[in-house]
Amino acid sequence: MASEGDKIFVGKIVVGTDPAGELTKNDWAVVVDSHGIINASGNKDEIVARYDGEIIKLGPYSLLMPGFIDAHLHAPQFGNIGAHQDLPLLDWLTTYTFPLESKFADKNFSEKMNAAVVRSTLSRGTTTACYFGTIYKDDALALAIQCSEQGQRAYVGKCNIDSNPLATYYLEKTAESVVDTAWAAREIRGLGNSLVEPIITPRFAVSCSPSLMESLGKMAKEENMAIQTHISENEGEIQLMKELFPNDGYLDVYDKYGLVSDRCLLAHSIYLTDAERKKMSEKGASIVHCPDSNFALMSGVLDHKVADDANVNIALGTDVSGGTSASMVDAMRYAELSSKINTIKNKQTTSYLNFKKAFIFGTLNGAKALKIDDQVGSLEVGKEFDAVIADVGASLETAFLENDSPDELLERFIHCADPRSIKNVFVRGKEVFSS
Ligand code: GUN
Ligand code: FE
Repeated sequence: MASEGDKIFVGKIVVGTDPAGELTKNDWAVVVDSHGIINASGNKDEIVARYDGEIIKLGPYSLLMPGFIDAHLHAPQFGNIGAHQDLPLLDWLTTYTFPLESKFADKNFSEKMNAAVVRSTLSRGTTTACYFGTIYKDDALALAIQCSEQGQRAYVGKCNIDSNPLATYYLEKTAESVVDTAWAAREIRGLGNSLVEPIITPRFAVSCSPSLMESLGKMAKEENMAIQTHISENEGEIQLMKELFPNDGYLDVYDKYGLVSDRCLLAHSIYLTDAERKKMSEKGASIVHCPDSNFALMSGVLDHKVADDANVNIALGTDVSGGTSASMVDAMRYAELSSKINTIKNKQTTSYLNFKKAFIFGTLNGAKALKIDDQVGSLEVGKEFDAVIADVGASLETAFLENDSPDELLERFIHCADPRSIKNVFVRGKEVFSS
């Protein structure tokens, strides 16, 4: 079988999706057609005998793997990345974050920063990103244009804030917030790029009136849009939420206004109750675990096992600039660290989250959260080729790696590779980054 423009990737390939089994196959081949669809996968000798196409042979310390899905990050916070990690959430928002975000009213600043953000995330292997933007509609569009031009799959959210007890200069009128959200959604869809979609983005209950949340819930339903927000991240934040909504639990506030759908991404979710986890599971909503940010802002430690046992899907996010790194590989590493902290706290001896589970969190579970796991999240036949080629030998001396099994190489990539290892990044078959 042959078709013009097929590419055949040959070498060590991460094709598994079950963390209890082997994720990486040696001497494997994946065939990608000219539309960017994976049309075959199997033992290299069998595939090469059956398919014609350009053969791309991976190096001995290279891995082809699914692209990373960053299910939660803030584009307008990249200007602060790695800086200002000395305050807890509410003070951090007031002191460092809202002042930076308010600068995005300036169109030139917004365009320059958004271009850099997309370059930065693509170069770290993020093939799908769920971005929070600022409250400014033109800024959301500028971000979407960058995703579209640079070839990233993205969900772009114009952020909604119509009451802001933390910064009175950074908010919108309720009606304007709704109208601008509809405008941004129309304009983003009007770009005509099926890789880039708008997403409903109420910042958190603390910054949204009931009337705003109700309108956004309706819009999400009518326009079939995914939803992203923050929940139960920090004890001070939960206290403030309770003062504003004394009669409801945190998840109830969102649920009451139609915001807890099966494409709802709830960042942090550290202090959920059992009843909240049960409701999330019933509704098909997902937790986005943001471990880097949870440590940096001293918010808390998510217990994955409790969430997993409640059958809630867990995706991963960098949460820049609450998180200090734009790399989803670092997010996977920090997720394992969270699990080990729980292991220590619980006086146990084995950690719940191994590198394979962390990898699935950062790939397939992100796709599940967005209900695009029929399209991306793994390198299975029929899916779109969103992928990363990583050369582990570019970060580590190859003398150390000589006897590695393919899964051991993946483990080292997750645990101690750095961005030098990211060699090629593909979205729907198109190369969008190379180094
Ligand atoms: N809660 C509301 N806004 C934010 C934000 O920008 N970052 C984090 N980590 N939590 C939030
Ligand atoms: Fe966040």
